[in-house]
Amino acid sequence: MLNIALPKGRLGEKAYRLFENAGFPCPEILENNRKLIFENEENAVCYFWAKPSDVAIYVERGAADIGVTGKDILLEYEPDVYELLDLKMGKCKMAVAAKADFRDKPTKTLRVATKFSHIAGDYYAAKGRDIDIIHLNGSIEIAPVIDLSDVIVDIVETGTTLKENNLVVFEDIVDISARVIANKSSFKFKNRQIEKLISQLSKQLEE
Ligand code: PRP
Repeated sequence: MLNIALPKGRLGEKAYRLFENAGFPCPEILENNRKLIFENEENAVCYFWAKPSDVAIYVERGAADIGVTGKDILLEYEPDVYELLDLKMGKCKMAVAAKADFRDKPTKTLRVATKFSHIAGDYYAAKGRDIDIIHLNGSIEIAPVIDLSDVIVDIVETGTTLKENNLVVFEDIVDISARVIANKSSFKFKNRQIEKLISQLSKQLEE
């Protein structure tokens, strides 16, 4: 049995379609109910819906053999897993944004609000910039507007959230997309199934 953790939501459903077409169907998963775990014994596969930011935890600890998670999560938490495939979906970018009239004063400590403290810390450390990280859990765009921070480091997808809060992108940090990850010991002991899955998924992506 291959245990697969998918991120609950639109991205997870899109990823499931790809897994289904790759020969790992479990149609019950798309039924609209509150169930979170779905098994298809015939195809030796078990899916579960996890909170997107938790997928890597299930996989790292071996509760799931395979998972789909964003590159942002992998960069932020550096889970001890194998990154096997870029699904080229859920595309967005990590960026620095601020109010349009923001001007950086390099002699002053920069106040950075973010959910991605590690990514932000690494980014500014590489530039040798002194920063004060303000870790928030969501709605980061509020911070510069009410002067809690000078800038934010956050995910930008369509740019709508920034626009509606009068913020603009100042710097791009990294491109993000959904990745297939594997537990390290599962990769060894369920190698044949995992290799088959990855090669079928790759074929689907090429079509
Ligand atoms: C993410 C991100 C931005 C928004 C960007 O937030 O943190 O706020 O999406 O998308 P856009 O460029 O298409 O507007 P999410 O919805 O995950 O909620 P959050 O406030 O909990 O971070």
